[in-house]
Amino acid sequence: MSSAFIPLIRFAILFAFIAILLIGGFQVWNKTLNVGTYSFLVFITQRLLWPLTTLGHVLDDFQRSLASINRVVDLIDTPIEIKDGNKKIDLKTINGEIIFKNIFFNYLGRKSTISGINFKVPAKTTIGIVGLTGSGKSTLIKLLLRIYDTNEGTISIDGIPIKDIKLKELRKCISLVSQETYLFHGTVKENIAYGSSNSSFKDILKASKIAEAHKFIEQLPDGYKTIVGERGQRLSGGQRQRIALARAVLKDAPILILDEATASVDNETEVLIQKSLSKITKERTTIVIAHRLSTIKNADNIIVMDKGKIIESGKHDFLLNNKNVYSDLWNVQVGI
Ligand SMILES: Nc1ncnc2c1ncn2[C@@H]1O[C@H](COP(=O)(O)OP(=O)(O)OP(=O)(O)O)[C@@H](O)[C@H]1O
Ligand SMILES: [Mg+2]
Repeated sequence: MSSAFIPLIRFAILFAFIAILLIGGFQVWNKTLNVGTYSFLVFITQRLLWPLTTLGHVLDDFQRSLASINRVVDLIDTPIEIKDGNKKIDLKTINGEIIFKNIFFNYLGRKSTISGINFKVPAKTTIGIVGLTGSGKSTLIKLLLRIYDTNEGTISIDGIPIKDIKLKELRKCISLVSQETYLFHGTVKENIAYGSSNSSFKDILKASKIAEAHKFIEQLPDGYKTIVGERGQRLSGGQRQRIALARAVLKDAPILILDEATASVDNETEVLIQKSLSKITKERTTIVIAHRLSTIKNADNIIVMDKGKIIESGKHDFLLNNKNVYSDLWNVQVGI
């Protein structure tokens, strides 16, 4: 409508202008109209009608604002289904023991995604989660962060059910490198510091060195001040991942979750990252989800998931001897 509006008005102006020229001209010819009045009329139509075209822009802006307001109001009106807890936890004293007890969950309108999951991650240990795509690994993480709530069962941190913990505090104690990296339009430095706003540049440098990101960041045209573009589109997938990793390392939370955090980097860089991460993971509870089994080989415990259930668990060597799904996956990956 807005694109039709302005040409229409212009057309009307032209029409009125020609009408005044012709009819007025004719009347001047017949001496029924003064020449002075005639020229005034010609002039005034221009003055009067041209501003009408701006009305088109006003109408356009109005419709746009209306649509935006509707969207904002819709969002505000959406009920928050996740109820906030009221327990505070102290980031400094938290141990980071995580227990998933009898968890059942399904997404709205989907059949059950997690059905009866039980496991414990003792404080300051590393657990690896493997399983076919779509088996519910990332869903477990979403449940732990309370992006969704479980249908049944309780997840607890240090014995406190997460439903009782203040959401903000819960999320403060978890560093997550999610499967999809979220970078924002801004500099590399801002993207790493997102989540730990009062960190110094020295800390940022340290974190990016641990995440093996320092070298490539230095080679970018403006180093740490390079703009990464909308969603980090001016970086490669592996570079984005390492920035996300540096962000999580910088946050320095007692629980670290890596969901396919090194899936897009080459094997050599991954080994380097693992080496530098090993110091950090010793001091905190770590959950590592990976398709590349070499990533989780050294975990204190590994669980293998299939269709929302745990089908095997144990250390790497134990699972290899078990000659089940894990050892099959391993054999495929090492090429036996
Ligand atoms: N937001 C959602 N709404 C509905 N269904 C979902 C949603 N997210 C995931 N699912 C479904 O839940 C199942 C488990 O998904 P999930 O992301 O946990 O898998 P995953 O084990 O992490 O897989 P991958 O290894 O590919 O990352 C899938 O079948 C998926 O289709
Ligand atoms: Mg996943």
